Amino acid sequence: MSHSAAPQPMIARRSGPLQGEARVPGDKSISHRALILGALSVGETHITGLLEGQDVLDTASAMQAFGAQVERLGIGEWKVNGVGVGGFAEPAGVIDCGNSGTGVRLIMGAMATTPITATFTGDASLSRRPMGRITDPLELFGCEVTAREGKRLPVTIKGTADAVPVRYKTPMASAQVKSAVLLAGLNSPGETVVIEAEPTRDHTERMLAGFGATITTEKTDQGYVITLQGRPELKPQPVAVPRDPSSAAFPVAAALIVPGSEIRVPGVSRNPTRDGLYVTLLEMGADITFENERVEGGEPVADLLVRHGPLKGVTTPEDRAASMIDEFPILSVIACFATGTTVMQGVKELRVKESDRIAAMVAGLRANGASVDETEDTMTVHGTGALAGGGTAVTHLDHRIAMSFLVGGLASEQPIGVDDGRPIATSFPDFLPLMTALGAQIA
Ligand code: S3P
Repeated sequence: MSHSAAPQPMIARRSGPLQGEARVPGDKSISHRALILGALSVGETHITGLLEGQDVLDTASAMQAFGAQVERLGIGEWKVNGVGVGGFAEPAGVIDCGNSGTGVRLIMGAMATTPITATFTGDASLSRRPMGRITDPLELFGCEVTAREGKRLPVTIKGTADAVPVRYKTPMASAQVKSAVLLAGLNSPGETVVIEAEPTRDHTERMLAGFGATITTEKTDQGYVITLQGRPELKPQPVAVPRDPSSAAFPVAAALIVPGSEIRVPGVSRNPTRDGLYVTLLEMGADITFENERVEGGEPVADLLVRHGPLKGVTTPEDRAASMIDEFPILSVIACFATGTTVMQGVKELRVKESDRIAAMVAGLRANGASVDETEDTMTVHGTGALAGGGTAVTHLDHRIAMSFLVGGLASEQPIGVDDGRPIATSFPDFLPLMTALGAQIA
């Protein structure tokens, strides 16, 4: 991640009513995939609304290293001239994916069935995260993998020239695992099949279909069975990236907890595989209206109107976890301002994100006076309708931990600090000006 060397402490203070329009950035998951599928198509893919966060910029650089031409035309407007399925060139140097689990895992899948060798690395956070969940299924295709102890980065993959198609049941709910296998399946003969017990975000499947691949999803007794026909000729597509519901969650949360607030958040993706937070907030009694529901770039989209109001604690069931996996940190903050207990079930995947997000939230919320419990697989917040604040949260190079606590500080009695705001640039580079424009006091 290319940020300044010194940590950047930030602080959020109790703010007046938030008002205005929050134009949040493009969806991170879709942005990575647009660059990668553009690179795997022959010809020019034109992308608008691309998230220009560091995670996605690192994927853009990686696609160039594999031989694609990637060019920025204007704000969020990019073009990719791809090399086609199986056309990746061997990169001259190490591929540094910075802070991005999605970037490194999807790119590993995309190159594993091409006879080239690549070495992947990342920052301190990414280097702690498990890569065996990706390299294990990729080895089934026939590639060779070398990794640091515990199957961590740096990882070197020697891609295979003779890939065999794979049928793989994912051992955990992970769109990154599913996507890595599907991308490897692109340059394998025959059918590659991924089976998942619960649906995870389906942007890879939607976009592959849009680029001309034959891909189906079937609900069966075994789970969701996704079947991809190998060796398609991917055709370049214009990609209009919708706004990121995971980034929208921060201004939405701020408006819900700061008294008197009313904001609009236009053009947010309402893909059902990403919608769990919004389902949960409505159950909590949140005043959110979804206006102008429409389809843009193959994704359902709506304009959100969000008003402050009373909230009550709820239980989020395990089978909803995948559809809101990145939103539990901010939900745990919102839950402090609700009355009653909020129980988040089936959330152990949070322990292997950019940080152990359960540990980071529990520690930071307790430091700010909240009553919180954890087990390996659950997080529980005993909401009182208020948060004392006055503490500093440790963010562990995790953008969502940083933004969650800064949002909490807008409504807590005393200010809330974070030890380092730099990681926010990975997913939401304009977080500070956007929140400030709504009336938030963050510095
Ligand atoms: C993502 C999948 C999720 C999510 C991440 C983005 C993706 O990770 O947490 O922020 O774009 O596929 P897992 O696949 O590890 O659940």
